[in-house]
Amino acid sequence: MGDEETKILAKSHPMVGGDGARSYAKNSSYQRAVMNATKEMVEDAIADKLDFKTLEIEASKTFQIADLGCSTGPNTFIAVQNIIEAVEQKYLIQRQNPNSALEFQVFFNDHNDNDFNTLFKTLPPERKYFATGVPGSFYSRLFPEKTLHFIHSSYSLHWLSRVPEEIVDSKSPAWNKSSIQCTGLVKEVTEAYAAQFNNDMESFLNARAQELVGGGLMVIVISILPNGIPMAKTAEGKIYDLLGSCLIDLAKMGLIDEEKVDSFNFPLYYPTCEEIEAIIRRNGLFSIERMKIFAPVVPGEMTFSAERSTAQIRAVFEGLIEEHFGHEFIDQLFINFTRKQLAENFLKSDDLKNHNKIDLFIALKRINTIDSYWSM
Ligand SMILES: C[S@@+](CC[C@H](N)C(=O)[O-])C[C@H]1O[C@@H](n2cnc3c(N)ncnc32)[C@H](O)[C@@H]1O
Repeated sequence: MGDEETKILAKSHPMVGGDGARSYAKNSSYQRAVMNATKEMVEDAIADKLDFKTLEIEASKTFQIADLGCSTGPNTFIAVQNIIEAVEQKYLIQRQNPNSALEFQVFFNDHNDNDFNTLFKTLPPERKYFATGVPGSFYSRLFPEKTLHFIHSSYSLHWLSRVPEEIVDSKSPAWNKSSIQCTGLVKEVTEAYAAQFNNDMESFLNARAQELVGGGLMVIVISILPNGIPMAKTAEGKIYDLLGSCLIDLAKMGLIDEEKVDSFNFPLYYPTCEEIEAIIRRNGLFSIERMKIFAPVVPGEMTFSAERSTAQIRAVFEGLIEEHFGHEFIDQLFINFTRKQLAENFLKSDDLKNHNKIDLFIALKRINTIDSYWSM
């Protein structure tokens, strides 16, 4: 394993596990809408860009797929199913021997403390693949060299390996005292977050370049910012600011420490399309085969209510908040958060209509060999 990659110990903040009312499994329909919106893009990338004539695949004909940042399901199962169906279609067209068939092995990756038990218990019984769990940070090497044919990662790469140090340093101009996120309104704060994102993406791309076989594909789906729009001017940024204001309220009531609020920051960064493209081009180990900005169609069942928006945000951030503030006031925090959304009419406001919410689909193909990578 590359030493540089193994040194990166990403902080882990798992989504709420299990399949109860508060779980990620029951509160991730937005992420599922994103997955559904990219189905055709994945099919198209595989039909057009996966080439069995040049793909390094062993005589055993096992096609190896990894979903990185899979959480507990069920979204990951939908993604994997789409990939397998598209690969099978392509194989039918390109196989040399009409009797040969592919077998599939799927690696589900997330942090060590992800609820893999729920993932394994809810694996689709009719699946056509061998399932394996791979614990660990995707900012490090996770697989042996040249073993994967397809990598997928949806809505996970905006999680940084850590909050940049300057953000919590009261002596730094990048001290993010007044906010819990990278609002994009303070230059030094934005630069510190952007630099961390750059480093993390570089580690991610280097690790994946070693693990993908020649001609292997990697699909990344990530939330991005429209050009010139700071996070604070997006619906997501605004709702995170509202959550931050609920933490300040608890501090004013003397229930949590003000300093604790000052030192709390989301390890999240939403890049622009240009930023991410520049990182991939600078890295130079992948060709960009597809790049598409889209806004997912949110299904009718997801018509927003304050309760629903709280449930979705809680399922993602409860672990992170609990780790910093403890468990005692977590219910209170989210009750206040729902009330505040209602009081400010948040979900009906123009702010939400002009949500500035866009996502990016990228399909990459590995171009460099390991040898040329190490000699660079
Ligand atoms: C919002 S969830 C997305 C889950 C799933 N891909 C989906 O679309 O529903 C983000 C996931 O990424 C995982 N994650 C974040 N950073 C990670 C890292 N460095 N290594 C592995 N997993 C990570 C989190 O633990 C979490 O399960």
